[in-house]
Amino acid sequence: MALLAQPGTYNLTDYEQTYQSFNFTDYQHAHKKEAVNVAYFAVDQHVKSGLGAKIALHYVNGEEVVSYTFREVKQQVDQLVHVLREREIQVGERVYIFLPKNPTNYFAILAAIKIGAIAVPLFEGFMTDALHERINDSYGKVLITTKNFASRIDFQAVPSVTEVLYEEDLHNLTVEDDYVYWATPETPFLMHYTSGSTGQPKGVIHAHRAYLHHQLSGHWVLDLKPDDIYWCTSHPGWVTGSVYGLFAPWLNAATIVVQAGRFDAKQWYRVIDRLKVTVLYSAPTAFRLLKAAGDVYQSFQLDSLRHVLSVGEPLNPEVITWAKKYLHVRIHDTWWMTETGGHIVVNLPSEVIKPGSMGRPFPGITVKILDDDGNEVPHGTIGQLAVKAPWPGLMQTIWKNKAKFDGYFNDAGYYLSGDLCYQDEDGYIFFSGRVDDMINARGERIGPFEVESALVKHPAVKEAGVIGKPDEVSGEIVKAYITLNDHFVETEDLIDEIKVFVKHQLSFHSAPKEITVLDELPKTQISGKILRRELKQREQLVKLS
Ligand code: WTA
Repeated sequence: MALLAQPGTYNLTDYEQTYQSFNFTDYQHAHKKEAVNVAYFAVDQHVKSGLGAKIALHYVNGEEVVSYTFREVKQQVDQLVHVLREREIQVGERVYIFLPKNPTNYFAILAAIKIGAIAVPLFEGFMTDALHERINDSYGKVLITTKNFASRIDFQAVPSVTEVLYEEDLHNLTVEDDYVYWATPETPFLMHYTSGSTGQPKGVIHAHRAYLHHQLSGHWVLDLKPDDIYWCTSHPGWVTGSVYGLFAPWLNAATIVVQAGRFDAKQWYRVIDRLKVTVLYSAPTAFRLLKAAGDVYQSFQLDSLRHVLSVGEPLNPEVITWAKKYLHVRIHDTWWMTETGGHIVVNLPSEVIKPGSMGRPFPGITVKILDDDGNEVPHGTIGQLAVKAPWPGLMQTIWKNKAKFDGYFNDAGYYLSGDLCYQDEDGYIFFSGRVDDMINARGERIGPFEVESALVKHPAVKEAGVIGKPDEVSGEIVKAYITLNDHFVETEDLIDEIKVFVKHQLSFHSAPKEITVLDELPKTQISGKILRRELKQREQLVKLS
């Protein structure tokens, strides 16, 4: 059943009319600036315009809350700017930020951007191989991390890194450097590594022009107003955590909440209650876990919450119904990707929500559902979600892989997402799956190739095929099929050892949760490539039997 909007004042009140009248080309033209810097727009500009004393960030670490005003954020960023400038970092240099979800992470990302470098935030869960792989792809020289996190890196194996800045040494800085590198809209500022179905993760490069998309979607979709306390639960190592955890809210001068640690239902409700969070952006797995936690919510006052959004994986209608009934909020699904750099399909607070639907195209953006030949399919028919290029948030390129970048677009200039969807008569879009083998566990993208490569490094593993297996809580879990080398026998201990081995190489989230040993893996006859599709079918057959 459709859920109507609550009466209220929203930043965008009439979707149809705005969709008809708004276009990004005019908007970009009206906001055209030759010299731009996302970091400057996100912080310094607010200090200049009189918002210096406004709280920019609440950091929750267990019982402790530390708050920073925009002026204090600027000071912190400018101190790191000084440190980076002393290291003579060049424009376009890749600066790795490998830190927990804490304020330094946000400040370091901005400092790198402010001096014209490319910030490369890395997920806090990454382990040795995942880190080496990414660093050796983009060959940056500066790494900002903690002593603890640095122990996961073998510095011999990442020869480009010549400057390691430890967070522990960055706390008592006193010198600030109020330097801004004035970039052009096309200057790169951010790179996120992301996984597909083939090959190792690739570096998706975003340019400063994306700030227009971030700002406008923060205004329309997050519906941010001056008094909002906004909490995005994602780590800045993922695109949601940077674009909607940092850039979009701060470009709109909102107060953000940063919470240390991963999911815990009680802790999360407590953060909302304590800080009077008004806008929350999270992922379906987290909402499912909140639902599973039952009446825990009853011990907390949650009525500050006025707008709740979701992204990253299919949002089940049951979760929407539950949130409406018990938390008295509608959950607004949004669809976008690392490559799109900002919202593409959205549910706006002023509009009807159809549970199960990701929403309708963001104003200024043309979306089509295409068949294999690139023709638009009728309403209700499944096809590939495609987006007419360009738009301000669209990635600028793939790091050192122009061919890969070009491969995303069809001849008609549409970006092909790899997601299968259908659209109803009202324009609402429903997700149905992927065209490829990409895995999505708890909203986090996992490339099967990266996991397979890690598996075959274990001495017992001969070959590996990795798939996503449907799971009630996580959406999908990582499931590996392997064959063993001679003289190895399948035992529970060996299987556990292999799981831990991958966890220590890549990360907790991409390690297989299940492993099945087979005598042989299904392969293509000619090239001998492992057929993940058959493994997936096998999984379904096992489930039925
Ligand atoms: C999936 C995250 C269903 C999709 C911002 C996409 C979704 C991939 C949704 C991008 C949604 C994202 N419903 N699936 N609302 N949003 N996805 O790059 O398969 O980490 O291609 O960006 O997540 O993941 P990424």
